[in-house]
Amino acid sequence: MFSERTNWLREANELTLLLEEQRRAGARILDLTESNPTRCGFNYPSERMLGALRHPEALSYAPDPRGPISARQSVVDYYAERGAALHPDQIFLTSSTSEAYSFIFRLLGNPQDSILAPTPSYPLFDFLARLNDLNLIRYPLVYDGDWRIEREVLETRIESRSQAILIVHPNNPTGSFTSADDREFVLERCRARHLALIVDEVFFDYSLTTEPRSTFAKESRELVFTLSGLSKISGLPQMKCAWIVVSGPSELAGDAQSRLELIADTYLPVSAPIYMALPDLLAARRILQPQILGRLRTNLDFLDRRLAGSSLITRYRVGGGWYVILRLPPVLSDEEWALSLLRDSGVFVHPGYFYDFACEENIVISLLPPPEVFEPAIERLLACVEKGR
Ligand SMILES: Cc1ncc(COP(=O)(O)O)c(C=O)c1O
Repeated sequence: MFSERTNWLREANELTLLLEEQRRAGARILDLTESNPTRCGFNYPSERMLGALRHPEALSYAPDPRGPISARQSVVDYYAERGAALHPDQIFLTSSTSEAYSFIFRLLGNPQDSILAPTPSYPLFDFLARLNDLNLIRYPLVYDGDWRIEREVLETRIESRSQAILIVHPNNPTGSFTSADDREFVLERCRARHLALIVDEVFFDYSLTTEPRSTFAKESRELVFTLSGLSKISGLPQMKCAWIVVSGPSELAGDAQSRLELIADTYLPVSAPIYMALPDLLAARRILQPQILGRLRTNLDFLDRRLAGSSLITRYRVGGGWYVILRLPPVLSDEEWALSLLRDSGVFVHPGYFYDFACEENIVISLLPPPEVFEPAIERLLACVEKGR
């Protein structure tokens, strides 16, 4: 009756079961995995956003597979501020970055072709590849004071059926931007092996250092699909609007755009109220991003002050994004630490294995929770690790 691609393991893991049990029992959980910005106490320009959803043109139906020009122009303007001069024809609106991945996977791959994606990284890639009948081949990021691509391994993992290399810039959860060297390496490999490059830049605006950052949307040497959207850029995951930027050598990019147009035309994924509101919803980033960046920095400073007094926990370098990785003493595995923190201290964290870390000592925490949650959670985490080491 059902497709094999939906034969996934659906049993809840021990951590989820414990979380449900604790919540049923009425325990107050300090959630260090919270990454939904609408639940983190930020001030949204509500009147302006709701007003934008009342655009009169939303009452008529004028389908455009890429999304209306007014909406795409606001995306062009967003990239112009980041040094990329784009044409509205390069932009395709989708309802989410996940959907954008599906469109690109459909565009590039026949069943059983493969895409190369980093590990550790965003767990949803496995599902997205499988739903589109593609094999996901992982290539490692290694840490030597910063995260970088293990180039020799990436090289050997490219197979004849590989269609694209995917990078996340900055990556979730490592918080690492792709270095200039790695960028050149990947582009060179794409050229040599006839691969497209897919770049997820949903966290691009959340740089936590002063290093200059460069968007891949301005890349024209190879065929590149740059993905982003409202969910992180404006802290609006519920509005369901994202985009693909197609760039590259003109003939190849033109071919990709006309094929993508047919995929987009088949779904016409974005609703009129949302795409008419996109310029205003995108402008909301000017109110949201300073608050979010302020929160990330405040929490990171607090964490570093508290970790300065502890020799048991170290944190990995973070370049940007909403997460930070902590290395705990190896007396327990990452899963055991997460279970112990939840059971004994009421602190919910993600074990590193959710993201496929090579070692078992890492936990991942979000920097987004308000300080009244983040700070006591860190105090409890430190106490728990001190006791359990
Ligand atoms: C790297 C990365 N890409 C994409 C997304 C999801 O974006 P969207 O809500 O637009 O599907 C996330 C969500 O956390 C993410 O971490």
